[in-house]
Amino acid sequence: MAFLNPLDSLKSNPFVLAPMAGITDHAFRSFMKKNGASVVVTELVSASGIKHLSKKTFDLMSFDSSQRPLGIQLFGESPEEIAEAAKVVQDRGADFVDLNFGCPVPKVVKKGAGSAVLKDLVQLQKILSKTRKAVQIPVTIKIRTGWDQNSRNADEVCKVAADEGILWVAIHGRTRAQGYEGFSDWDYIRQVKLGAKIPVLGNGDIHTAEQALQRLKSSGCDGVLIGRGCLKNPMIFLQALRLLNPDFQDRPQTDIVKIYLDLFEFLKLHCEDRVLTLQLKKFAAWFATGHPGAALFRKTIFQKNQAAEILQSVSEFFGSIPETFRADTASENFLMGGHG
Ligand SMILES: Cc1cc2nc3c(=O)[nH]c(=O)nc-3n(C[C@H](O)[C@H](O)[C@H](O)COP(=O)(O)O)c2cc1C
Repeated sequence: MAFLNPLDSLKSNPFVLAPMAGITDHAFRSFMKKNGASVVVTELVSASGIKHLSKKTFDLMSFDSSQRPLGIQLFGESPEEIAEAAKVVQDRGADFVDLNFGCPVPKVVKKGAGSAVLKDLVQLQKILSKTRKAVQIPVTIKIRTGWDQNSRNADEVCKVAADEGILWVAIHGRTRAQGYEGFSDWDYIRQVKLGAKIPVLGNGDIHTAEQALQRLKSSGCDGVLIGRGCLKNPMIFLQALRLLNPDFQDRPQTDIVKIYLDLFEFLKLHCEDRVLTLQLKKFAAWFATGHPGAALFRKTIFQKNQAAEILQSVSEFFGSIPETFRADTASENFLMGGHG
């Protein structure tokens, strides 16, 4: 197996696909990889689900070599369980293990997993140390800035991570208490990066390719993660790469219907029928963000049950739109919840 070091990939392409539960599955990761994402990461996978050999859990870890370098993200509360799960991740051929310490969801934090670990750096150290000892592949972590505004500690987390030989720390610039309210604090991310002895990736509220480049440069980060922005505009990675490097050859597709049909091919290959129609509806709705008539289009699309009907509506709606994805969508609330 030819492992790829994800940190090496950031040198030529610092734009990483952020993990998103229910979204960054096998199909979407392949699609985004084709469209310029550098490193990709699965959604969070339960270490306990791996221990209990849950089929659903193992399905989440499916990938192919076109996605490399690929990380499988784990969450859990027990250092031993996480370390054992990391071995399984390594055996499945992932390039790295990513640990989720950013999930704000009550069900997860109540058990002491996700962002709850940010409140207990001794526990954090234990998890990192055991996981590092369990595998040879790199280990990365994804965090929030802290539990709440009064206890922001991403700088201390970076110290622990650097001491434990973690490859990088990705920071979503909100506290756990914020959920998805307010804004990602890129000034704070910049400060943490300045003082860190470990590579730092910044994340949060990148809606356009211009913002991706600006955030990368102004924060001094080693890379940036893009999540919701690529659901509204899946060409954002290629656009950002062209801004970063004017000699970059691949031109982003501008025809939304063609892009959607391409995504459909990936979804068809990897999703069962029920999931396929659900994903088709969600992506159609997200692609419409910022376009006149989007509200009515979304209503129509969610009443359809067959892929053919959905594709028909997509062709009609986007076929009549002269321009491509709307750039200026930052003012609209968009997917205000998730696992990181
Ligand atoms: C629907 C959804 C699901 C998410 N699932 C995960 C996840 O499984 N693991 C994780 O670390 N972060 C998860 N996140 C958080 C994102 O990776 C990212 O940190 C957050 O959305 C902020 O970045 P953005 O503004 O670019 O979307 C999720 C976010 C959303 C919106």
